[in-house]
Amino acid sequence: MIERTFVAIKPDAVKRKLSGKIIQRFEDKGFEIVELRMLLLDDELLEQYYGEHKGKDFYNDLISFMKSGRIIAMVVEGNDAVKNVRTMVGATKPWEASMGTIRGDYGLSTPHNVIHASDSLESAKREINLFFKD
Ligand code: CMP
Repeated sequence: MIERTFVAIKPDAVKRKLSGKIIQRFEDKGFEIVELRMLLLDDELLEQYYGEHKGKDFYNDLISFMKSGRIIAMVVEGNDAVKNVRTMVGATKPWEASMGTIRGDYGLSTPHNVIHASDSLESAKREINLFFKD
């Protein structure tokens, strides 16, 4: 089924100039980038984006990392996009992610794990709405 999912290229990857390669992987696989913007996140947006992690031991580190530079937010469309994009992204902890996945190939640590992708259709809708409400 054709779906849309939300993807964010995180500040570490933007700084390392990996954005082009990452976008290319999705296009090479057959996905379409249907929305894209570069932005610096503020506390208000971050609170809504990562609210479910509030109180966890990694929350403060995660928030300060996500504010440390610009991100690229995008909407990726294609066949079973939520599941297939998550497969391409790989495990949350890059040292556990298989080689051939984006985190496996480019990441070394958390929270600097290169990329985020929605974990369900419901999160995709919520995150797309948060970043592309206009
Ligand atoms: P992301 O897919 O953006 O969703 C939440 C983020 O929290 C996750 O990627 C990681 O960057 C971070 N995260 C999740 N679990 C941990 C953890 N155990 N330790 C450190 N950071 C984590």
